[in-house]
Amino acid sequence: MKEYPVQRAAVLKEKPDPNTLVFGKTFTDHMFIMDYTAGQGWHDGRIVPYGPISLEPSAMVFHYAQEVFEGLKAYRNPQGQVQLFRPMENVKRINSSCDRMCIPQLPEEDTLAAIEQLVRLEADWVPSAPGTSLYIRPFIIATTPSLGVHAAHNYIFCIITCPVGAYYAEGINPVKIYVENEDVRAVRGGTGYTKCGGNYAASIRAGERAEENGYAQVLWLDGVHREYIEEVGSMNVMFQIGDTVVTPKLTGSVLPGITRKSCIELMRSWGLKVEERLITAKELFEAGANGTLKEAWGTGTAAVVSPIGEMGWEDKHVVVNAGKIGPLAQRLYDTLTGIQWGTQPDPHNWVIKL
Ligand code: COI
Repeated sequence: MKEYPVQRAAVLKEKPDPNTLVFGKTFTDHMFIMDYTAGQGWHDGRIVPYGPISLEPSAMVFHYAQEVFEGLKAYRNPQGQVQLFRPMENVKRINSSCDRMCIPQLPEEDTLAAIEQLVRLEADWVPSAPGTSLYIRPFIIATTPSLGVHAAHNYIFCIITCPVGAYYAEGINPVKIYVENEDVRAVRGGTGYTKCGGNYAASIRAGERAEENGYAQVLWLDGVHREYIEEVGSMNVMFQIGDTVVTPKLTGSVLPGITRKSCIELMRSWGLKVEERLITAKELFEAGANGTLKEAWGTGTAAVVSPIGEMGWEDKHVVVNAGKIGPLAQRLYDTLTGIQWGTQPDPHNWVIKL
């Protein structure tokens, strides 16, 4: 496996209190960085002290947002070892995002090696308090100084890491989500299936509106018919209607979540019926009104499994499972986090111990 050169930080930072970690605010001592130059390919991968990156104001990422990112986590198991959850899935997904954004492909094995080497170096930063982990954020930005709308000739691939607790202030307690009628997050043929910053930038306005109205997140409708449920933006969504679990199918405008895929695989291995299909907001709210909607939850790397306790849409309002986490979301949360934190067997070989 590839080994990258390391320039160690002269002074190491003080670690934050693991019991009061806020998502994405504290960064570790080092980062990985690698350059791309047209004609030369990816080169000079290295680990350096975490710090500012100097770019020209004309760097293309600032103007046309040619960039992609990923999110995965490292966990500390009860034996004190550090482990990753399905990291190759993230490497493959960043390359799928790169393909859409005209960014050169990363070498898969060397990218996994970079993630593993950085996490090994930062192992002391992987917290052990319940529900905490080290969030890993790989990203690529276009750095060519040019205002022409073309694919850049130069890029930086960087990996930063931060110790985190729960993504939502609610933790495992159910969140309230609001169906957005006005703005759309993504359209088919667009970039919805990628992790590119633009998808998230487009979601901020509706997110702010939802928060002003007391909701944690926005539930997006498809951008064409504005009828079909897509995702929340920070997580995919799943609903138990009767005895079937329904989740929006991957139509091109929905992120192919790795936690989504893992939950589907787990539920199918338990003999549950899972349907990936189109689901209208009308069907969902009718199921909420007639009592067939048993549970609702979101899935994501940051969000893990987050129960949805209330949903609003226009003048309609649905309380799911009396606003409490249901047995299926709890089982998924316990099993998934059990595998991730190494407190349960890993029958699917999803975990890589470092
Ligand atoms: C993740 O779950 O890793 C994401 O990238 C979502 C982001 C909104 C935190």
